[in-house]
Amino acid sequence: MSNHFQDNDKIMDHFFNPRNLGTMKNPDAFGQVGNPRCGDIMHIYLKIDNDIIKDIKFQTYGCAVAIASTSILTEMVKGKTLSETQKISSQRIREALGKMPAYKQHCTVLAEQALKKAIEDYQKEKNA
Ligand code: FES
Repeated sequence: MSNHFQDNDKIMDHFFNPRNLGTMKNPDAFGQVGNPRCGDIMHIYLKIDNDIIKDIKFQTYGCAVAIASTSILTEMVKGKTLSETQKISSQRIREALGKMPAYKQHCTVLAEQALKKAIEDYQKEKNA
């Protein structure tokens, strides 16, 4: 099998048809992370009710795998409790997306970090 991520239909589907793409008015939480090496940036917006993620939107200014990672992450997160989201790691994102070359794996880490940032933001506000 080829080692090009372009041969992974799931990655290409999420790249061309990203789920939950866009912004959100008055989100309960917002997370932003950037990768200083490639310059890619991710934004994640959450609506949280009773510790359940009711809605999620994202914007990713970056490569195809970063966009696909955030898109699949939104599907993994929607409807979950905050504690369930703790289990969503970049490893889980990679398992969900399927085979990708080693040099693209760091792009999935950005998605995990953006979600963590958003949840940290929410918990900080809640406990303020
Ligand atoms: Fe920057 Fe993929 S190359 S996140």
